[in-house]
Amino acid sequence: MPVTITMLICAVILVAVIVFLVWFVKRMNKIQRTVSNMDREAIDALLTRRSVRKYKPEQVSRETLDRLLEIATYAPNGKGLQTPLIAVVQDKETTDRLRRMNAEIWGKGDIDPYYGAPTIIVVFAPTDGSSYVEDGSSVLTYLTIAAHVLGLGSCWVNRELQMFETGEGKAMKKAWGIPEKFVGIGGVAVGYVDGELPKPAPRKPDYVKWV
Ligand SMILES: Cc1cc2nc3c(=O)[nH]c(=O)nc-3n(C[C@H](O)[C@H](O)[C@H](O)COP(=O)(O)O)c2cc1C
Repeated sequence: MPVTITMLICAVILVAVIVFLVWFVKRMNKIQRTVSNMDREAIDALLTRRSVRKYKPEQVSRETLDRLLEIATYAPNGKGLQTPLIAVVQDKETTDRLRRMNAEIWGKGDIDPYYGAPTIIVVFAPTDGSSYVEDGSSVLTYLTIAAHVLGLGSCWVNRELQMFETGEGKAMKKAWGIPEKFVGIGGVAVGYVDGELPKPAPRKPDYVKWV
């Protein structure tokens, strides 16, 4: 083969290798960037979630709520038994009833403990489970973080344990098809945030102890 043809083939191979390397490095950079953006978004979501106490009256769409609930079912749970139950309430008559029942337990008079949120979620867990409070709390935590990620506001609300121990609460649970052994672990008010998200309180200096 004449020398010029050999040189030409070598030059073509060299150019192809360089083009491939440039493409490869660019692609690796892009993958790296995508992963770190995802990390940043996940960390931001954890740091910027806040308890919301003022909601717009507009109802949360079924699609968004379905996604929220699906995420919540992936919360860690003792022995992987997935014992909690998540009750979702959107109809006004029932949400108003829950507001009244909660306020009665709270004993603070004319206050709405769910802050006007159009959706109320109640998490139940069965008392015969070995970690029912933790399992329910784990779901509640996921709900609050997932709500924030999906552009919703939320607030973890207390007193569902007592609410569903009253005659009215027990009857409500029965009507919802929730067995008696399930107790209320907590509630979450969910809706679109009205106004700005509150600022977080400063973290206490001795929160973490390296031992
Ligand atoms: C177990 C538990 C019970 C809570 N109960 C209520 C409640 O009944 N009403 C309320 O407004 N916030 C309630 N919260 C929300 C806390 O007040 C809130 O998480 C805390 O002040 C920190 O604020 P942040 O969520 O904005 O970071 C509860 C939170 C937890 C974890």
